Amino acid sequence: MAQIHELSVNLSNQIAAGEVIERPASVVKELLENAIDAKSTRIRIDFIDAGLKQIIVQDNGTGIPSDQIDLAFTRHATSKISNEHDLFNVGTLGFRGEALASIAAVSHVEILTNSGGASGTRAEFAAGVKKAQEEAAATKGTQITVKDLFYNTPARLKYLRSPRTEIMKIVDIVNRIALGYPDIALTLMNEGRVLLRTAGNGNLQQTVSSVYGRSIAEKMLPFKSSDNDFEVTGLISKPGLTRSTRNFISILLNGRYINNFQLATAVMDGYGTNLAAKHYPIAVIKIKVDPLLVDVNVHPTKKEVRLSKETELSRLITNAISSALLAKDVQADAIGNLTNTKEETRMDQLKFNLNKNVVETKRPDQAENTRDEVHETEPAAIESVAPSKYVDLNIPREDDRYLVTKTWPENVNQQVQLTPFSHSDLHEDVISTGDELLASSLPELSLVGQTNTYLIAVSGEDLYLIDQVAARRLLAFKKISREIAGQKINQQGLLTPMILEFGSLDFIQIKDQLEEIKQIGLFLEEFGQDTFILRSYPTWLEGDIEHSVRAILDSYLNVDQTDSANLIKRIASEQAQRIVPGKKKLSSAECGDLLTNLRQVNDPYHDAKGNVVIVRLRENDLRKMFKKDE
Ligand SMILES: Nc1ncnc2c1ncn2[C@@H]1O[C@H](COP(=O)(O)OP(=O)(O)OP(=O)(O)O)[C@@H](O)[C@H]1O
Ligand SMILES: [Mg+2]
Repeated sequence: MAQIHELSVNLSNQIAAGEVIERPASVVKELLENAIDAKSTRIRIDFIDAGLKQIIVQDNGTGIPSDQIDLAFTRHATSKISNEHDLFNVGTLGFRGEALASIAAVSHVEILTNSGGASGTRAEFAAGVKKAQEEAAATKGTQITVKDLFYNTPARLKYLRSPRTEIMKIVDIVNRIALGYPDIALTLMNEGRVLLRTAGNGNLQQTVSSVYGRSIAEKMLPFKSSDNDFEVTGLISKPGLTRSTRNFISILLNGRYINNFQLATAVMDGYGTNLAAKHYPIAVIKIKVDPLLVDVNVHPTKKEVRLSKETELSRLITNAISSALLAKDVQADAIGNLTNTKEETRMDQLKFNLNKNVVETKRPDQAENTRDEVHETEPAAIESVAPSKYVDLNIPREDDRYLVTKTWPENVNQQVQLTPFSHSDLHEDVISTGDELLASSLPELSLVGQTNTYLIAVSGEDLYLIDQVAARRLLAFKKISREIAGQKINQQGLLTPMILEFGSLDFIQIKDQLEEIKQIGLFLEEFGQDTFILRSYPTWLEGDIEHSVRAILDSYLNVDQTDSANLIKRIASEQAQRIVPGKKKLSSAECGDLLTNLRQVNDPYHDAKGNVVIVRLRENDLRKMFKKDE
């Protein structure tokens, strides 16, 4: 065996980085948390190529004095705690003194900072080693540029997901942190495109509006409660507004976004029977607690914390939410004072679109400068970032070291997944015209009566019970499926085009699936910041068109794209449910039509999910029931 020896500082920093810096989003999280700890009120994040090529975080916080820069990049050096007591009383997001050293160990880092003096400092690090330090002009605050992430640890690159997923992870963490700090004006930019911009005026509902879009913010209810140990406040979605994953529940403990299954469950418990199975609310839950009751030193990225009195806290959250949902007067729209940050952004974007070429060919810094003409409120500290800090985007992308196809083998799968949906699966459900009567297994029926729920019909000596709501939905489902599967989906023009606004994360997911969405006849066009425009809709959509379109687009969020056929079936079945809402006494003509139409579909006995629509009691069965066999 080789001799035991101490690892070099460099190598041990790389090992430490392995725990803290997993992916580009970890860099963004650490730098953002540092900026928050430095009491910044404005923070701007820019990234290029999913953060692998470059991440810049600028803040207007305290800055770092030039004689402390080396320390800031040294492992286990921090300004945030000094003794054991502090470790169990952490009031900042950082405390380990590891993040900068870890980031610098696996990238090229440049720092420009000023802690309040006449001039500031610029320094450069490569693979953890300082390459240069000099006096430089800078306004108060810090700007850290991380380039070529993982360039010296290529094995890391192999574990990264597709660029789209990495971008979403960045957006996700910034969104969650933004929800924790409504008083900080945060901007997240990707190659000139604004992914998030919060006002920083302390209004949580406005922050939710920036993150998830105004239509969601409008449907959020405030809640508040406290006991001797905890204070919980935040916003929760009204019962009708749900999502298909828990991801929209954000829990912030003393400003730190944490993963905590028990607390997320407590949120859902607060909804009680208001929440259907597999439906999850949107919620921002802020918990204030004495830091002594929390141990944050249990997880490398501090995502999980150890919490005393977790059960009591869960109960407090559940009760607070259930009383907020009960109090009808609380539901009064608190949205009146919500100034429309997204609307403004959209207007900006529209102004840009008037001269589209300019926007598309500008480098991010230039595009941002143009934007500043509209947003005159950008403070000097942020504007003063030298454009030269950006890498030159004119360099052909083929030269990129991290050209996506070379470093992300997963990209290949992505292309496969995006292969347009084939309608063949749907056709199985729809009988081709002409053969309907032959294929039908339902004989001609005579209606003999109806209850509130069932139609009663006979054929010869057999008795049929037809669940009328299920039957109408089944017919609507078949009709919609047939239209979607058709060669051409008929369109109905909208008098006023529909403007559909989304949170950035949802927008990206939908944008990536525009081709699939076209297959069902929805032709969405991008329309500025996080917004699509719809000028016509497929005629198979009936009822409240906007509601249906939104509900359908929701089904494209967080779904496994490999199963498009099933997704379309689900969409058709949900739409059928929407347009046939519930029980209705049918006229005898309507009953007659229903029976005739049911004869024309394949297997009218079951719906798309396999639920029973028609029960047939054969004469034989009836005989047995009446024990007439003997
Ligand atoms: N944006 C910033 N503004 C001012 N000071 C900063 C900034 N970023 C880092 N620092 C200083 O550098 C030190 C080291 O930062 P680093 O992120 O490595 O450690 P930390 O935040 O103390 O702990 P952790 O590793 O848990 O994040 C910080 O303690 C802080 O004093
Ligand atoms: Mg830190």
